[in-house]
Amino acid sequence: MRRLINFAVVLAALSLVPSIAARTSLPEAALSLFEYSMQVQDSRYDSHYNYIWYQDKGPWSVRFTAWYVAGLLYRNEGSDLQHAKAALENIMACQMIEDFDSAWYGTFKLSPDQPTPDSVLYHPKIYTTYDPNWREFIGTQLVQIIEEFESLLDDELVQMVETSLEHAAIGAMRRNGSYPEDDNLTIGYSNPQLMRALVVGWIGNRKNNDTFIDFANQHGDLTLQLFQANGSNTLGEYNAPTYYGMDTWALAANIKYGPKNATMTKNAEFIMVELWKDIAAHYNQFLGNLAGPYDRAYTRDMTEHSAILSMFWWGMYGREYGLQPPKGESDLLFDIAQGAALSLVMETAKNVIPADVHEALTSPFTSEPRFLNKTIREDLSTDYTRIATSWISKELMIGAEQVDETKNRGDQFVPAIVHWASDKDHKPYPYSGFLSLYPSASTIKAVAGPNKLTISYPNSTQQGADIFTFALSGIPPSWMLGGNRITGFDQLPCLYVEVDAPGLEKLPVTYGEQLRDH
Ligand SMILES: *[C@@H]1O[C@H](CO)[C@@H](O)[C@H](O)[C@H]1NC(C)=O
Ligand SMILES: *[C@@H]1O[C@H](CO)[C@@H](O)[C@H](O)[C@H]1NC(C)=O
Ligand SMILES: *[C@@H]1O[C@H](CO)[C@@H](O)[C@H](O)[C@H]1NC(C)=O
Ligand SMILES: *[C@@H]1O[C@H](CO)[C@@H](O)[C@H](O)[C@H]1NC(C)=O
Ligand SMILES: *[C@@H]1O[C@H](CO)[C@@H](O)[C@H](O)[C@H]1NC(C)=O
Ligand SMILES: *[C@@H]1O[C@H](CO)[C@@H](O)[C@H](O)[C@H]1NC(C)=O
Ligand SMILES: *[C@@H]1O[C@H](CO)[C@@H](O)[C@H](O)[C@H]1NC(C)=O
Repeated sequence: MRRLINFAVVLAALSLVPSIAARTSLPEAALSLFEYSMQVQDSRYDSHYNYIWYQDKGPWSVRFTAWYVAGLLYRNEGSDLQHAKAALENIMACQMIEDFDSAWYGTFKLSPDQPTPDSVLYHPKIYTTYDPNWREFIGTQLVQIIEEFESLLDDELVQMVETSLEHAAIGAMRRNGSYPEDDNLTIGYSNPQLMRALVVGWIGNRKNNDTFIDFANQHGDLTLQLFQANGSNTLGEYNAPTYYGMDTWALAANIKYGPKNATMTKNAEFIMVELWKDIAAHYNQFLGNLAGPYDRAYTRDMTEHSAILSMFWWGMYGREYGLQPPKGESDLLFDIAQGAALSLVMETAKNVIPADVHEALTSPFTSEPRFLNKTIREDLSTDYTRIATSWISKELMIGAEQVDETKNRGDQFVPAIVHWASDKDHKPYPYSGFLSLYPSASTIKAVAGPNKLTISYPNSTQQGADIFTFALSGIPPSWMLGGNRITGFDQLPCLYVEVDAPGLEKLPVTYGEQLRDH
């Protein structure tokens, strides 16, 4: 009896060996990102309920929990595996699969206590009472978990994940930009589009289901076609530092985990290379920022606020590179939730990005000023394009965009921005001054040039076309305390601005209106 038991123990121990050996060992930079992510996530893990506690959209975050599971499984020490399995089951318990025909079918609750959006008390509202993109955020994460750690999980749990991904894929495939109600997942909505191709294609391949495989292949083709339209190699969600982080995650995950013969797996390599060439072209190592304009920005100064993209410099080269906010910065404490999962695809991204791009991403800005001009297409069915121009010199850079639309793109849209070093001596980056246009009108002609920004609102009948409002930020303490005062653009630290605006009346300056997406 005794002997038999011992024998069983030995066998079990042996069977663990291959999975440990198969585990990739992370290079130093990726490991440093991994460890900081786990340090932060460990500190907010509710090990009783097995969810990450984070008061953002409810008391716990299902998405942060999904990102943490990858970290737990990689670390696999002490009770990590046990918690990972419990958390994984918890995530799937939050998938909404009761109502097959609903718009939220297959997506996940933001927090386990969230009701299903099916009543007058909690009515369905896209991106409000349910988030359709959590199929993609959590779905891609589940794909990574199975691809990297299947050998650590019981068959039953793996099958549960597969079933969950089938639900997610079915819901995701229905979305076409106008259906279900208020949907906006078009091919040009880059980050969920790139993630959807992986989720649908991966489960299609796994279950040998042609409905999924064909959808994913078709979308892999359309995504590349849109990217290359007008010879531009631009994503529809252009120059968006936070979403470029998600795009890079999606591209790397497609390359590493996607079915070998899926169109997106192949196309992801091309898009990754071209995307990072463009990121390097916009990158100003001296100022620690990417030049604008930004289609979407949660931050206008990446030395002070996190954007997911920064974590790729950290994970590929180390935190001393790129544009890194302070470790305690609150947006970083949000974004770092994904750090462990991202660290597992860093080598994939790094291997695809060409050597000269790595060089540009890690070297001081020594070159002559440069000018960039990019055409952005968001839709293959119209010829409508936007034009993004940037002029980048070491201490001053300007980004501008030309749009002709009837709907305002909102606060995250930054169609005209000037960055400059308002205090060159500040460390680790010069203090970053910026002035950023608040796009009150939806038709804007903003163009960047050498030391110059030109802005007009060509459609004068549009609401908001009668005012140009700028946010100004990044004034060093010593400058204000030294007796200076901001009264407009006429006197700024380390920047001389000449305003030419015939017929316009100068309005007063107000202080203290903190930008939401600073
Ligand atoms: C989106 O799907 C709905 C429902 O299937 C359909 O009626 C509509 O024509 C589709 N729209 C596009 C742009 O494909
Ligand atoms: C879709 O809607 C969400 C929520 O309003 C928004 O953040 C996103 O930018 C939109 N995407 C597109 C392509 O319109
Ligand atoms: C593939 O998935 C779709 C959607 O769930 C389903 O209708 C179909 O029966 C599946 N096909 C096969 C061959 O399993
Ligand atoms: C983009 O391509 C479309 C279709 O080929 C063409 O009609 C349009 O003029 C092009 N736009 C630019 C800015 O090149
Ligand atoms: C990949 O090839 C296999 C075998 O030929 C086929 O069954 C499958 O449908 C293909 N998958 C994709 C994504 O094209
Ligand atoms: C940028 O490119 C577009 C499309 O080719 C062109 O119309 C425009 O004049 C260019 N802008 C500048 C400032 O060179
Ligand atoms: C000007 O904007 C209005 C309101 O958005 C729109 O209805 C009109 O078509 C636009 N005019 C032109 C010439 O684009």
